[in-house]
Amino acid sequence: MKTIGDIFISRRIFDEYIKMLEKAGHNVEVNDSSEILSKKELIRNTKNKDGLICLLNDKIDEEFLNACSNLRVVANAAVGYDNIDLETANEKGVIVTNTPGVLTDTTADLAFTLLMSAARRIPEADNYSREGKYDGWELMQPHMGVDIHGKTLGILGMGRIGSAVARRGAAGFEMDIIYHDKYSVKEDLEKEIEAERVDFEDLLIRSDFLSIHTPLTEETEGMFKMEEFRKINSNCILINAARGPIVDEDDLAQAIEEGELRGAAVDTFENEPKVNPRLANLTEFVVLTPHIGSASLETRREMARLAAINMIAGLEGKKPPNIVNEEILSGK
Ligand code: GLV
Repeated sequence: MKTIGDIFISRRIFDEYIKMLEKAGHNVEVNDSSEILSKKELIRNTKNKDGLICLLNDKIDEEFLNACSNLRVVANAAVGYDNIDLETANEKGVIVTNTPGVLTDTTADLAFTLLMSAARRIPEADNYSREGKYDGWELMQPHMGVDIHGKTLGILGMGRIGSAVARRGAAGFEMDIIYHDKYSVKEDLEKEIEAERVDFEDLLIRSDFLSIHTPLTEETEGMFKMEEFRKINSNCILINAARGPIVDEDDLAQAIEEGELRGAAVDTFENEPKVNPRLANLTEFVVLTPHIGSASLETRREMARLAAINMIAGLEGKKPPNIVNEEILSGK
């Protein structure tokens, strides 16, 4: 079995993990530029490689996988892998890995930070202070927010990250937790924090804060459109640190403008890296961040480490710790 592999990394990662790959005997090339490579460029660089460490921006679709026929391992440096055509990877026997676990708490921290920033209107208040507009404390302060403690926090998708956000709300802010998860009942959380499982409509109606934590699938794409915003609690602030296309952004902007919901905190956009201009025009109770859910130094380092470990194992013919298409191994 060939153990020395040629690896391409689609964007800069921490040097120590490039060294780790080289120490394991691999030849490594990295896109050192500050640009995301076009598909054509990505193919050109990966064509003759055995392994690719890639990011969410890289579309690993049928065309790509056909063009890079030597590829044996695709290590996505992210927990989500909706950028990868798994069906074609399976057909071609390409191992796909992700980086679960290490980013759960960091992403939950960010989701909760977004919730708090939107509720207490932190970006607006920050701008106001910097612009020298603060001219004295008053009872009827211009940036009156809403309370967080004691409110109802709705979680869509009670997986690892959803559970971590729910725990933060219950333990830190005495929030009532409701959740909708079509595929799992969380008896442990129902006991531990009295989380209540509800149907989707109830989640819309009862949540003061609704935080999305589902993966992007055919089922969840466009799950929030005007129809849902017409049902949603008009006090609600929607938080999306999962995947942009779960929410129709034009409808979200319109719904906020029309008062169907109070606001939104958005970390993931429908057409990244584009930020919807209608959303960007809204400021009250609206916070936008550029997909930084897992972006702490500690966690991004861990994600790079896991991607490197997965790559080394896969190219050595071993089962990578975070393989997402394990079924292909039995066919090998
Ligand atoms: C980030 O969005 C990830 O999926 O890791």
